[in-house]
Amino acid sequence: MTATEDKLDRVAEILRSGPRVAALTGSGISAESGIPTFRGKDGLWRQFRAEELATPGAFARDPRLVWEWYDWRRGIIGGCRPNRGHRVLANWEKRFPGFVLITQNVDGLHRRAGSERVLELHGNIWEMRCPAEGTVTENRESPLPELPPRCPRCGTALRPNVVWFGESLPAETLQGAYAASAACGLMFVVGTSAFVQPAASLPLLAAERGARIVEINPDITALTEAADFSFREKAGEILPQIDARLDGGAAQ
Ligand code: OAD
Repeated sequence: MTATEDKLDRVAEILRSGPRVAALTGSGISAESGIPTFRGKDGLWRQFRAEELATPGAFARDPRLVWEWYDWRRGIIGGCRPNRGHRVLANWEKRFPGFVLITQNVDGLHRRAGSERVLELHGNIWEMRCPAEGTVTENRESPLPELPPRCPRCGTALRPNVVWFGESLPAETLQGAYAASAACGLMFVVGTSAFVQPAASLPLLAAERGARIVEINPDITALTEAADFSFREKAGEILPQIDARLDGGAAQ
């Protein structure tokens, strides 16, 4: 038995013992669907400057430029499908009572994979918000016919309903994420560099309250040391292997 197989068996055994389960995901879980991450080799923040595109100041200066970037990303995401990693987490929502999925992703792929209760910490790229009225609407047109899109009622330039640098996270969603992290007995941290706060602090809170942490990431992160189990592999490889061990005991 390899070291990875042994770890897979042990994680599956803990899962079968019935702890409360939570998962925190980042852009790495969608990498195998073809969506670029932020800080990796071909990551978005290697090609673009965040302060020119993902800040309230950038939007105030040039809403069209900001929307061109989001329209481009919507085009990429729209052409991608959820992968095996997303699907396993969607099944676990049905399998484990009280399972909570917390994501930093705005791509909506967890919902498309079937997850119904998703705490989207950084918003959703398929939603638009009117800064004047505060109303949020879903819009899946891609490409958008007009940039920036405008509020049909008041004509104000709509913004993507995502969290930009320097902005607070949606309060209720963040509360839910803190509560789930504090209450879980096992937390999966999947595909995040654990670089952006407050998301990165959630696994530490969980660990402090006694949860065991399972990290799945091909790279080492700031959280690796705090993890009880660290799989240095792709989410789409590891999550299905854990899932396969849930029925019928450890695979030999
Ligand atoms: P990052 O790009 O910072 O990190 C992605 C992580 O995924 C890296 O640690 C990779 O090693 C890992 N990874 C790559 N492929 C993987 C795979 N197949 N399976 C598992 N892991 C894989 O992305 P995030 O941590 O999501 O915020 O970034 C957090 C936030 O920073 C984003 O939500 C975004 C960005 O600025 C906002 O836009 C507000």
